[in-house]
Amino acid sequence: MEKDNQIYQQYAYSYPHKLAYRELVKPLSLQEVWGHQNRDNLFAYLHIPYCEMRCGFCNLFTISNPKEGVNQYLAALKIEAQTYKYQFPDLQFEAYAIGGGTPTYLHADQLADMLETFRDVLGVNTNKQYGSIESSPKSISKEKIELIEEYGINRVSIGVQSWIEEETKHLGRPQQPQEAAKAVQSLVESKIPELNIDLIYGIKGQTEQSWLYSLLETIQYQPTEIYLYPLYTRPLTGLEKMNALQASKSVEMTSEIDNRLARYRFAREFLLSNDYEQVSMRCFRRLDAPIIESDYVSTRDGMIGIGAGARSYTNTFHYSSHYAVGRKATKSIIHGYSLKNDEDFNQVHYGIHLDKEEQVRRYFIKSLIDGGVLNMQKFNKQFGRSIFDYSIINDLFDKKWLKKDGEIVRLTVKGMELEDQIGPSLFSTTVNDLMSKFQLA
Ligand SMILES: C[S@@+](CC[C@H](N)C(=O)[O-])C[C@H]1O[C@@H](n2cnc3c(N)ncnc32)[C@H](O)[C@@H]1O
Ligand code: SF4
Repeated sequence: MEKDNQIYQQYAYSYPHKLAYRELVKPLSLQEVWGHQNRDNLFAYLHIPYCEMRCGFCNLFTISNPKEGVNQYLAALKIEAQTYKYQFPDLQFEAYAIGGGTPTYLHADQLADMLETFRDVLGVNTNKQYGSIESSPKSISKEKIELIEEYGINRVSIGVQSWIEEETKHLGRPQQPQEAAKAVQSLVESKIPELNIDLIYGIKGQTEQSWLYSLLETIQYQPTEIYLYPLYTRPLTGLEKMNALQASKSVEMTSEIDNRLARYRFAREFLLSNDYEQVSMRCFRRLDAPIIESDYVSTRDGMIGIGAGARSYTNTFHYSSHYAVGRKATKSIIHGYSLKNDEDFNQVHYGIHLDKEEQVRRYFIKSLIDGGVLNMQKFNKQFGRSIFDYSIINDLFDKKWLKKDGEIVRLTVKGMELEDQIGPSLFSTTVNDLMSKFQLA
C-alpha cells in the first residue's frame, strides 16, 4: 500500500523536465535543429510570463506585476515568430496553446497584438486549429473574452483552486470567491465552447466537507473539463518559504495528515457520479462534452514554442530559454529574451539531445500519463521493438497498473491514482542526475 508521500513525487507532464536542460557545447542554428524534422502537424505554444500575483504554490516561469518591459517582450515575440517563419515558410500547425503565467494578464490591446503575432506572423490559424488559453479570475474581462471568441480559441482554462477564501489564502493566492464566480460565469455565458476549471486538494485546513463544497460549486457551472491538482510545495516558492519560516520559529504546526490520496478518491467518486468521466489522474471531462479531434500527436510531432519560458522540441532535441523560479533570475531571463534580434533567435544555446533510450522513455510517459493511450503497433512502427522488450513496462503490468485491450495499453484505475509515482519511475538515471544537480535560482 503506497503512502501519499511515495505517490506524490512529480507531475510528469513532459519529459525530459527543463531541469535536465543544459548549455550546449556549441550553439545550433534553427536549420540544424529543424532541417530534418517533419514540419507538418506541429504544435505551437506561446508563453506569457506575467501574472497579477505570484501564488505561493506556483513555480512556473513567471513574474508578477512587472513595472516595465511588457511591450518590449511582445515585440520580441514578434521577432522570434518572424525568424521561424523566415527560416521555414512551410511550417504547418495542427494545434496550439497560449500559456504562462497568465496570458490574460495582458491588457486587451496587448492581448490583441500577441494574438495577431501568433496568427498573422507565425501562421497559426487560430480559428481553424484546436487551441487553448490560460486565464485567471482577476485578469479575465468581457473585452478579452470577445477577443478570444474572435480568434476562435476553443478552450479557456481558469484557475479557481478553491471556492473558499481561507483556503486560497493558505495557498498564498488571495482571491475572493465572488470574483472567481463572476469570471467563471462570464466564460460560461461566452461563445467559447470549452471551459476548464482547476482546483487544488491537500490545502492546509481543507476538510472533506470544504472539498465537497468546492466540487459542488464547480459543477454548478458544468465546465466541459475539471482539473484536480494535488498540492505540491516546491523549491523557492512562497509556500516553501512560509513552511521554513514556521519551522525556524518553532511555531507549532498543526500536524495535518497528508490526505491527498483520500481527497483524490473522494473527488473521483463524486465526479463519476455527477456525469463526468475520468481522463487521467487530474482530468475529468463532462460526459456530453463534444470531443474535438486534432491531428497533432505528441509522440510523433514537434512543437515550436515562442516566448521566454516556452520549450520547443523535435523528435531528437528539446530546447528553451533558461529556467528560474525566483523573481530576480526570472526577470533577468525575460529581459535577456526581450533584447534578442533575429540572429539571436536563430541560435539555440540551451537544451537536451534525446538518444533512442530517452525517446522511448518519453514515448511511454507521453502515452501513459495525462490521459493518453499507448498503441503497441504504432510504438513498434516507430521504434522497431515491442513494448514488452522493456522491463519498465513489464513491471507496470506485473503490478496491475497497466492493462491491455487489443493493441491499446492504458493505466488501470489503480495506475491512474499513481500517475505521479509511475511518471517519475520512467525517468532515466541520466535525466534524474541532471535534474538533481540543477542549480535552481
Ligand atoms: C498554469 S497554472 C494556472 C493558470 C492561471 N495562471 C491561474 O493561476 O489561474 C495551471 C494550474 O496548475 C496548478 N498548480 C500549479 N502549481 C501547483 C502546485 N504546486 N500544486 C498543485 N497545483 C498546482 C494550479 O491549479 C493552476 O491553476
Ligand atoms: S498559479 Fe497562475 S496566477 Fe498564480 S503565479 Fe502561477 S501562473 Fe501566475
